[in-house]
Amino acid sequence: MRWLSAALLGSALVLHQALAEFTFKASATKNGVPIPDSEIKFVPYQFGRSPPGKGAPPGNPKHRMTRRANVQVSSANWCGSVNTTPSTNKIKYIEAYWQHPTCTKRTGQIYPQAVAAWTGIDGDTATTSILQAGTVCKFDNATASVRNEAWWQWFPSASYSIAPSTLPVNAGDWFNLKINMTSDTAGIVVFTNASKGIAVTLNLSGGSALSRTDSVWVVERPQYGSSLAGFAAFTDIWFQDASAARTSGANLQIVGSKQYYIPSLCASSEYSSTYMVAWNP
Ligand SMILES: *[C@@H]1O[C@H](CO)[C@@H](O)[C@H](O)[C@H]1NC(C)=O
Ligand SMILES: *[C@@H]1O[C@H](CO)[C@@H](O)[C@H](O)[C@H]1NC(C)=O
Ligand SMILES: *[C@@H]1O[C@H](CO)[C@@H](O)[C@H](O)[C@H]1NC(C)=O
Ligand SMILES: *[C@@H]1O[C@H](CO)[C@@H](O)[C@H](O)[C@H]1NC(C)=O
Repeated sequence: MRWLSAALLGSALVLHQALAEFTFKASATKNGVPIPDSEIKFVPYQFGRSPPGKGAPPGNPKHRMTRRANVQVSSANWCGSVNTTPSTNKIKYIEAYWQHPTCTKRTGQIYPQAVAAWTGIDGDTATTSILQAGTVCKFDNATASVRNEAWWQWFPSASYSIAPSTLPVNAGDWFNLKINMTSDTAGIVVFTNASKGIAVTLNLSGGSALSRTDSVWVVERPQYGSSLAGFAAFTDIWFQDASAARTSGANLQIVGSKQYYIPSLCASSEYSSTYMVAWNP
């Protein structure tokens, strides 16, 4: 799911060996009650598994306000907001809510097709390491149905999907994602199924050092093998209450952010200080 600059495109590998020192522990609760460790499952982030089923279509909670005129940046695979802080004032914490979209196959795109919505730290001005977590929809081929999953990656370590039996994801579901950094190489990631009260907490350490300078809220066309997956069509994705706390000063938010877009496939806009919307143009 890593972001690729044009220069890297085509040469990067999608699956990276986990760094030897990289470890994670997970815990999960449902309505505040711990879920037994034996029931918390991760699976390789991959295409080609059976679908978890379809959910109800989403309804957008708000109408669009007038879009603001942010700096616009064209990308092969990123669509959304990035705000950057100086390296002397690092990001300590980032969060957002969003509604997992209804995805449909997009005519003219190769298979597999996918759309990932995520929040994370780095990947724009700092590209060595990225901590990213979110939801994704995938179509393996023209006959397969959609699979929706939660996933995370501390790039350049491998990405993981959270097994649907641990954290189900359906079209229209509201998610909250929080990342609380304890150092450049360690942090706590909390996924919350906002509708059903399911929370999965990841305690990560030994990750490749982050700069903690880019706050990122994006919809991504993910990588598949050594190239990009097809980009499925999706209903508008709203990021809400998007905010990143820093060592000092005001939080980074959507306001004033750089807006990435994928030509003809995805547009994004600042909607308010903490809201961003990404849509099929
Ligand atoms: C399409 O995907 C489905 C589900 O993953 C699989 O059963 C089927 O064999 C695939 N068909 C082709 C032509 O690859
Ligand atoms: C982040 O974690 C620290 C403890 O490691 C805690 O004191 C702080 O309140 C947390 N921040 C947020 C916003 O949850
Ligand atoms: C939460 O879990 C339930 C199943 O327990 C699922 O139906 C729903 O789609 C999940 N997501 C959200 C955000 O509610
Ligand atoms: C995360 O793990 C570290 C060490 O493995 C531990 O010291 C810390 O208390 C854990 N934090 C949480 C919130 O579980």
